[in-house]
Amino acid sequence: MDDPKYQFEYCGLSSWFHYHNVRCSSAFWGDTPSGLGYSDIALYTLIGRVLEHYSQKNVTPTEYCILDLGTYFGHSAFSVVYGAATVSKDPALRVLSVDTFKQPQWLVENNSEVIKFIKSYGSTEPDAIGRRLDLAFSQIGLTRNPVQLLSRDVLTLTAGDLLAFAPKGYRLIMVDCAKTPELMNRIVQFLTDSRVCPMGAIALFQDLFDWHAPWNVYALWRLFKEGVFSLVRAGTAVTPFAEKAAVRKVGTICDQIKESPLVTETWCTAFTTLENEMAALDEFIQIFRGWGYIGAVLKLRCLKVGALLRDGRLDEADGMIKKLDQIWPAQFADYALQNAYCRLQHLRTGQKDLSLILDTPAHRFRSSFVLKKLRYMWARLMYLRPVRCERMSQVDSLVRTSIRKRVSVH
Ligand SMILES: C[S@@+](CC[C@H](N)C(=O)[O-])C[C@H]1O[C@@H](n2cnc3c(N)ncnc32)[C@H](O)[C@@H]1O
Repeated sequence: MDDPKYQFEYCGLSSWFHYHNVRCSSAFWGDTPSGLGYSDIALYTLIGRVLEHYSQKNVTPTEYCILDLGTYFGHSAFSVVYGAATVSKDPALRVLSVDTFKQPQWLVENNSEVIKFIKSYGSTEPDAIGRRLDLAFSQIGLTRNPVQLLSRDVLTLTAGDLLAFAPKGYRLIMVDCAKTPELMNRIVQFLTDSRVCPMGAIALFQDLFDWHAPWNVYALWRLFKEGVFSLVRAGTAVTPFAEKAAVRKVGTICDQIKESPLVTETWCTAFTTLENEMAALDEFIQIFRGWGYIGAVLKLRCLKVGALLRDGRLDEADGMIKKLDQIWPAQFADYALQNAYCRLQHLRTGQKDLSLILDTPAHRFRSSFVLKKLRYMWARLMYLRPVRCERMSQVDSLVRTSIRKRVSVH
């Protein structure tokens, strides 16, 4: 295997108390629409800070580039730059942020933050978002806006386009627009192209556990399995991310794309065999369980329900939902399970109704006032926990899994 040139060997990607940074950066972002949660912001600001530290170690800070696939209103890009700006007010980074900048009509008409943004800035197009970013960067003391917005469908983007902006490739690639299997395949081409994504580059899959884009977790598993990326975990509340560990082709990830039986429901598009999906989900479940990431394990088990539904195995999916309902720990909200139930009903009846509830005694218990309050308080406490990154290669994971198996056998 090639010798990986990891970025974090020198700087360490950890923070004992990141709450303050997240609060401050969120204050500057205000109510501008965002697709990020607390832990995403924590991680993005931390990565920005570490990359900038690394660059400033040189006598002349070396310029480094970041690729943001899926701008939305620019919060990911802002968060990374915010982190870099905590090190230098003249950070050495440049960000290329790509989006179609066409938000769906239902969002433009119904989302109060989007409506407010359009009233203030005129549209969801790059010039409007660029003005919002100019303001945010000037508020944090930067004299230039390091984010270049590119209005493009990622499906039409080429490695040449990306290299024109960053001839030496990108240190960080944020994947947040892989909403279809075709887009996922295109993005994996970039991730496995050593010119675009060199050794040590970080890939963040924002939709890793999302029901509506199940090919994200599958793509990461394939890249991990082939040894192309290592996994990095950063605490139970933070979505694990990946670091480039080898230059290798992995072939087409979504290799059997079929038509969705439900028009406009992309999640139901089969994209590989059921066996492949299950193997990926089972292996990740085992790894995450070993890490104690029970919330992630539950989401992955719900994704297994999705895999069965994509394969038309509705009764098996129903059985899996019932089993999960019985064992679902009360300290975790069961949104993912309820979502799985709604999607099963959609396939069964042809009627989409996401307000349906799997109303069982176990669900009623989990929804009690006291448990909801306890979960709320627990979620707030998570803000105070450190973000501490630990890398794990495919070999590490196999060794640890086999040790665990041996221990449980004896
Ligand atoms: C969840 S949002 C991204 C959130 C964002 N990263 C943030 O920081 O708030 C997903 C974005 O992907 C964009 N998108 C979806 N399909 C795309 C495509 N084919 N090409 C480019 N952008 C796309 C959407 O327009 C949307 O803005």
